[in-house]
Amino acid sequence: MKAKMTINRAFTIAKVDPRIYGTFVEHLGRCVYEGIYEPGHKTANKLGFRKDVQSLVKELGTPLIRYPGGNFVSGYNWEDGIGPKENRPRRLDLAWKTMETNEVGIHEFAAWTKDVNAEINMAVNLGTKGIEEARNIVEYCNHKSGSYWSDLRRKNGDEEPFDIKTWCLGNEMDGPWQMGAKTADEYGRIAAEAAKMMKWTDDRIELVACGSSGSGMPTFASWEATVLEHTYEHVDYLSLHVYYDNRANDLKGYLAKSLNMDNFIKSVASVCDYVKAKKRSKKTIFLSFDEWNVWYHSNAQDEELKEKDPWAEALPLLEDVYNFEDALLVGCLLITLLKNCDRVKIACLAQLVNVIAPIMTEKGGDAWRQTTFYPFMHAANNGLGTVLTSVVDVPAYSCEEFENVPYIESVAVHNEEKGEVVIFAVNRNSDESTEFDIDLQGFNVLGINAFSELSGHDVKATNTKSNGNVKPRDKNTAKAQGNLVSAELAPLSWNMIKVKVQS
Ligand code: AHR
Repeated sequence: MKAKMTINRAFTIAKVDPRIYGTFVEHLGRCVYEGIYEPGHKTANKLGFRKDVQSLVKELGTPLIRYPGGNFVSGYNWEDGIGPKENRPRRLDLAWKTMETNEVGIHEFAAWTKDVNAEINMAVNLGTKGIEEARNIVEYCNHKSGSYWSDLRRKNGDEEPFDIKTWCLGNEMDGPWQMGAKTADEYGRIAAEAAKMMKWTDDRIELVACGSSGSGMPTFASWEATVLEHTYEHVDYLSLHVYYDNRANDLKGYLAKSLNMDNFIKSVASVCDYVKAKKRSKKTIFLSFDEWNVWYHSNAQDEELKEKDPWAEALPLLEDVYNFEDALLVGCLLITLLKNCDRVKIACLAQLVNVIAPIMTEKGGDAWRQTTFYPFMHAANNGLGTVLTSVVDVPAYSCEEFENVPYIESVAVHNEEKGEVVIFAVNRNSDESTEFDIDLQGFNVLGINAFSELSGHDVKATNTKSNGNVKPRDKNTAKAQGNLVSAELAPLSWNMIKVKVQS
């Protein structure tokens, strides 16, 4: 098979907001406890955080981490997590039917994010709590000193504010499973009032309003429109959530699911622009895809666990073990987010450790990289700069859900500072490799900096703590001649080609 990508230095989509490589830490399962935090572990630092996990998080390269939920946040009292640990209450977490010890709260999490070079994307509880708690936590985290909440933070050990810039106004408030679920009007009103007070407390912050918890919700699109009717002038982003599965065990259909993500983004952007037009507003609402991933491998096990051991601490919930085909889909989803970076400014892979995560840990033992770790690591560390408009001439296939699925999913990012154009590409074809030519118009191509490929595995192959075979390898087969770069993309492969160009 042959495919050709044409790009031109002058034709750009937008600059990538690094927050597109966000992830998510929820007080859920073993994400916090036994994941990032395990005081007795041999690598634990003085706060009890595992250094082996920290170094994997840094290697992944995520600059923004959503916290503390998720469904958990809709029943969370943030004040439970401050002050001396021995006084912190143990609470029933109704979202996941587990016990929350509150050993980790905002001070500990802020210290941890500093160590992993990330910022916090903080969610406030608009389920069981309201506008008062929302404005208080902004004051606690961001106000320097001289007020009740800022001085309490200082008393609790942090003289300097945490300066959290990005905030989520609740989580999935349309879902009946959510504590304090609301109608679009109810949510729109409380979100608008919370937003006003939070921004009055700190006008530097940016706010994300909840979109639908999925495009399959019966109220999808009208929820977005109603919520924005109430909040348009007070918020900056609208959220999108999606999880994919391959329950049908149909590889072609599964790898095509990034087309669903693309369509979802474009639909939500259209609703935002409809409200913009209706309000005659000059402001554009951007998108925060603050939950996306593959999630299904652990579903059956979770039902059993919750029945067998309700109210346990650190119950191993949502521990999907990802395989090679999942890594390929995650690659296609990352490319889709990049191609929409004019609208999607924030995105969070849900989640980061143990819970539907690229990083797994064993209590008292090792930490390791799942298959999905690699495309994310490649993109987060190398997909920075400006996404170029690309015209790709490529054969396509059809499957049950989609027509015209290109065999090659690809994107090119120009990093002016580094003098590099980075191309990410997934070959969805399981039978044939592809001769992939890239015509870099308007660039002076100086050579190939790197070509890394993840391929050659059984689609169901996984990584375990003792076998991390599903990992990329470097190749030297990409060639540059004049402005043309050529590489052979193996059947079913994730590829990163770094082209050196004159700055
Ligand atoms: O990421 C797991 C859960 O998925 C989150 O808690 C919730 O927001 C979503 O339904």
